[in-house]
Amino acid sequence: MSEKLTRACLDGLKPYKPGKPVSEVKRELGLKTVSKMASNENPLGPSPRVMAAIKKATPELNRYPDAGAFYMRRALARRFRLKSENIVVGNGSDEVIIMALRAFLNRGEEVVIAEPTFLIYRIAAQLAEAKVKAVPLKAFRYDLPAMRAKITARTKLVFIANPDNPTGSYVNRIELENFLESLPKNVIVFMDEAYHEYVQARDYPDSLRYIRKGNVIVARTFSKVYALAGLRVGWAAAAPEIISSLNQVRDPFNVNSLAQVAAVEALEDRRHLLRSVQLARSGVSYLSSEFRKLNLFFVPSVTNFILVNVGTRGPAVYDSLLKSGIIVREMTAWGLPNFIRVTAGTNRENRAFITVLKRVLKEQALVKGRNK
Ligand SMILES: Cc1ncc(COP(=O)(O)O)c(C=O)c1O
Repeated sequence: MSEKLTRACLDGLKPYKPGKPVSEVKRELGLKTVSKMASNENPLGPSPRVMAAIKKATPELNRYPDAGAFYMRRALARRFRLKSENIVVGNGSDEVIIMALRAFLNRGEEVVIAEPTFLIYRIAAQLAEAKVKAVPLKAFRYDLPAMRAKITARTKLVFIANPDNPTGSYVNRIELENFLESLPKNVIVFMDEAYHEYVQARDYPDSLRYIRKGNVIVARTFSKVYALAGLRVGWAAAAPEIISSLNQVRDPFNVNSLAQVAAVEALEDRRHLLRSVQLARSGVSYLSSEFRKLNLFFVPSVTNFILVNVGTRGPAVYDSLLKSGIIVREMTAWGLPNFIRVTAGTNRENRAFITVLKRVLKEQALVKGRNK
């Protein structure tokens, strides 16, 4: 095969690196239990009401899903005081990111992102043959004035993860409003709010308000607090004209029928939502206080995960945690080799993580000492 067959935009593209399935980790390491604290999932699992609704819907699996996601869009519209015309559904919010690029970006136009941030923006933009302009975080927070300075007449999209992954930090209302007001008309702002429900900060912006005013897309997901990551279901809100363009590039059956049923029911179960938020917030606060006691630098997080500097090589700490049955995220791919990102688990998992981390850090210190 001497001819180069792949598109030029694949050159140097680093694909998403998936972790091993939990069952495989258990088998390989001979472990009975494994705690997955790596992907910012909800350790409580889906609401029992959602599981019952899914079961009830299975006899209809011979039918195609509703391509218009009528009930899901109606349920979202009612909950968030929008109209169904303001809503588009996605196979996870990842797909909405891809759809936005497909709908709005001409080849060679520019996309402004932060660095580091959620990895999919860069991958998807590169695949869309965009020119990516990445702006470093400032003290682990989005630097919106610096991002504004990168915008030109050729910029089409700006991605803002709010709150951000992997840092868990957020952009506040004033920062966002100043940024939005300063933008030229050619720019669409994609607000990625995958962790929106966890945020309790008073100055966190209510971004759905901005979709009436300008070129703003607000994306949310059922993967995190609603505990439905395996079903792949997300959505976005925007002005009807923007939603129409997104629908033009959407696969008609992109959200499967069980996912649609689950999403509608998940919105109904407010108790499960509240329990999930409380568990995550108390988990993050426990982990933060333990990191403080251990003198480890961490980024204050408004989400269900926390980025911490383990003071030594992150991959080594990751490996040792893994051998003890705790999967976290090591951060080399984000350019943060001394950090790990840990998702708050159940209270038991959080305590076990801290116990093992203390042991691992001690062992690492001994290794370092020996190598001196
Ligand atoms: C910031 C951010 N946006 C979007 C997503 C994608 O979520 P989904 O499962 O809805 O595709 C994630 C998942 O980790 C995320 O962290």
